[in-house]
Amino acid sequence: MWNTAIKDALVKLRQNIVKHPGMLPHIIEGQCYEWGENNDWIEGFYTGMMWLAYEYGQDTFYKESAEAYLANFRERLEKHVALDHHDIGFLYSLSAVAEWRVTGNEEARQVALKAADTLLHRWRPQIGIIQAWGLEDDPENGGRMIIDCLLNLPLLFWAYEQTHDQRYYDVAMQHALISEKFLVRGDGSSYHTFYFDRANGNAIRGGTHQGYQDGSTWTRGQAWGIYGFALAYRYTKHEAFLDTSKRLAKYFIEHMPEDDVVYWDFDVPVEEGTPRDSSASAITACGLLELLELTADEGDNSSRQLFEEALDRTMRSLVERYATMNLPDAEGLLKHGSYHVRGDRAPDDYMIWGTTSIWKPWCG
Ligand code: GLY
Repeated sequence: MWNTAIKDALVKLRQNIVKHPGMLPHIIEGQCYEWGENNDWIEGFYTGMMWLAYEYGQDTFYKESAEAYLANFRERLEKHVALDHHDIGFLYSLSAVAEWRVTGNEEARQVALKAADTLLHRWRPQIGIIQAWGLEDDPENGGRMIIDCLLNLPLLFWAYEQTHDQRYYDVAMQHALISEKFLVRGDGSSYHTFYFDRANGNAIRGGTHQGYQDGSTWTRGQAWGIYGFALAYRYTKHEAFLDTSKRLAKYFIEHMPEDDVVYWDFDVPVEEGTPRDSSASAITACGLLELLELTADEGDNSSRQLFEEALDRTMRSLVERYATMNLPDAEGLLKHGSYHVRGDRAPDDYMIWGTTSIWKPWCG
């Protein structure tokens, strides 16, 4: 089953590259991606997949395809196209950093370092966070952070490793600490977003943007938290981040529905037709794999067993029930992802980040 799934993933990726040269997939509704320019938060997922495909089989088609996008990512940065948000890590870790890691290309390294500098501009020292969205004086978003930002931090930790410039490390570390304090609740569930007073940094309240309601747990946010805190631990070795990732993972696993792929929010009333978010489960699979790698020397313990079983159940369900292997025209790999159900944006479609995440466990 896994071999067939990998083969299908490679075929679909190749088809997409050949069919849409130079374009990038955006949020979609239906069987096909909407293809466009490099001006959203998600374009890195596509190049990230190409690098994973190349690493998996050493087929230079994928390497050359990914390399062809570097100039495009560099130009976006130079012209600051649609970059007034924190998702610079999502964009550049999976494009420029990935290219540097695989090929050692110095130009890619320089682009990635410039991207890290751009991300630093979103640091709000009076609060200790990287602001998620909008400009500094934005009345709604000026003092707001979101859990997804944890996946932007590896770009800063990587930049610190490269340059030994302490600013990158301190900003990422401080943001992760504040995320842990305010976004993660006592029972291991999470807020999607948190508001602070811009003037004095005082905490105001938790809330949501894409979840069901302010106190609920948006499943994809929880998934970003599992993966993000595990990655923060990988870079910092700060034990509390590992524990936090495990707590979030346990909450996620305890609330998995019977087919093992989650609905879009853990607190939404489930009735016929309630949308799932397969991408949340795919991201969680990445997070569980990361946790298993990070705890390998802990030997066999009950947490590791729980994570191994949940990873297996999740991947089986995604491949058997959600993969598009029997839909040759489908451009995405996973059905039933949800971008923003409450906002009525792509509530039951292919999410490029779900398509990318399902690769990780099998690409080593
Ligand atoms: N980071 C945005 C999302 O997961 O929708």
